[in-house]
Amino acid sequence: MSLVGQDSKGKIVERFARHVSSGKAEFFSRFGVDFVFGRREGVHVWDTDGQRRLIDCHSNGGVFNLGHRHPRIVAALRRALDELDIGNHHFMSEARALLAERLTALCPRDLKRVVFGVSGGEAVDTAIKLARGHTGRPKVISAYGGYHGHTGLALAAGDEQYRKPFEPLSPGFVQVPFGDLAALEAAMDHDTAAAIFETIPATMGIVLPPESFFAGVRQLCDRFGVVMIIDEVQTGLGRCGEVWGINTYSVVPDILVTAKGLSGGIYPITATIYRDPLDRFLHDNPFIHISTCGGAEVGCHVALEVLNVLSEDGFLDHVRRMADLFRDGLGQLQARHPDVLVEVRQRGLMMGLKLASAAYGPLMTRAGFQFGLLTIYANNDQSVNQLLPPLIIQPDEVQQVLESLDRMLAWLRNRLRLPAAGRGQNHVA
Ligand SMILES: Cc1ncc(COP(=O)(O)O)c(C=O)c1O
Repeated sequence: MSLVGQDSKGKIVERFARHVSSGKAEFFSRFGVDFVFGRREGVHVWDTDGQRRLIDCHSNGGVFNLGHRHPRIVAALRRALDELDIGNHHFMSEARALLAERLTALCPRDLKRVVFGVSGGEAVDTAIKLARGHTGRPKVISAYGGYHGHTGLALAAGDEQYRKPFEPLSPGFVQVPFGDLAALEAAMDHDTAAAIFETIPATMGIVLPPESFFAGVRQLCDRFGVVMIIDEVQTGLGRCGEVWGINTYSVVPDILVTAKGLSGGIYPITATIYRDPLDRFLHDNPFIHISTCGGAEVGCHVALEVLNVLSEDGFLDHVRRMADLFRDGLGQLQARHPDVLVEVRQRGLMMGLKLASAAYGPLMTRAGFQFGLLTIYANNDQSVNQLLPPLIIQPDEVQQVLESLDRMLAWLRNRLRLPAAGRGQNHVA
C-alpha cells in the first residue's frame, strides 16, 4: 500500500494541526495554501490529493540539489541498509573515514579534516566551538539578517527575530552589515575567535556581496588571527556552478560548513570541514564534541553517492548552462515586468527575484501554487523570492519555470492593478 495519500487532505491537515503544529496549519490556511507534499520525483512535487504538480524551485535550500528521490541516491541507501546501520560514534569507522577523505578531496588546500553532524545548525555550532577552542577567544562576528540555524551558537549568530525570545544566549556575539569590510574591521580585535558568513545569505534575500568582500574578510582574519567560517549550507555542492560557492570568490576559509544537499534529500548528514592547523584542539580533546547520529554510516554512503554524482564529468557544466538559460530568461522577465521585478540576483543556480515591495514576496509564493512553481520568499527580506531549482533541471523545465514566473508576475501586476508595462515586448517563451 502506498505511504502517500492514504487519508484525505482534510484529515491529514486536521491531524497535523492537532498533533504537530497548530500554528503552521493556521498560517497556511490563512495564507491560502493547503499544499501537502505527496508524490515527488525529479524536479516535481505533487499535492497529496494528486491535484497539483509543482516544479520545486525551493529545493529546501539545496536539500534537493539532485532533485527528489534521485535513483542513484535511493539505490545507495538501499545498498547501505543491506550491511550497515548508524554505527557507534564513539568508535572509528570505515564509512566516516571514506566520506571524509572524499569530501576533503573536493576542498581546496588544507581543508582536510571533518566533524560530521545531523543538521546544519549543529554543524555551525561545531564550527564555532572549534574556533573558540582553537583560539581560546570568545567573540564571534556575523552578519545582521544572516541565518545559520536554530541551535545554540548558530542561533546566537543569526538574525535577532529568531533569538530574542530565547535570551540570554551565549555572550560574545556581535553583528555587522553583510559585505561591509570597514564595519568588520572595526568590530574585529584580538578577542575575536571567528567571523562567520554565508557565502550568499539566502534568508537575507540572496544578497550578493561585493566581489572583493571575501578576499577582504580573509585578510582581516589573517591579520587578527581570527578563524574564517563560511556557511555553505545552501551555496555548496554545486549550487553556484563550482563545488563550493566560496570557490567562485577564490578564497579559502578556515572552516567550511556543508549540510542540506549532502543528504541527497534522502538521509540527513552534515559536515564541518576544517583546515589542518586547527586540529590541535580536537586532537587533544577527541571526545569534547559528540553527535550520536552525526555521520551515521548509512548516511555516509548516501553522501558518497551525492559526491559521485557531483564529481561526474559535465555535472558542473550543466549547472552553468542552466544558469545561463535562467540569466537570459530572467533578464527578459525583468524587461517585461520592470515595475514588479526590480532586480535579479544570481550566482549559478542560486537566484533571487527582488520585487518592488515586501508585500509581493508572499504573494508570489502564493501565485506559484496556482501556476506550478514552488518558490518561497526570503524570510528576512520578504521582497525577495528565492529561486533554487534542483541542479539536475533540464532546459525544457527551465523554460517551464520561466513561463510560470511570467504568469505569476502578470498575476501579481493584475492583482495590484498596475499598468501593463512591457506589453509588446517579446514573451519570455
Ligand atoms: C545558510 C544556512 N545555514 C544553516 C542552516 C541550518 O540548517 P538546519 O536546518 O539543517 O539546521 C540553514 C537552514 O536553512 C541555512 O540556510
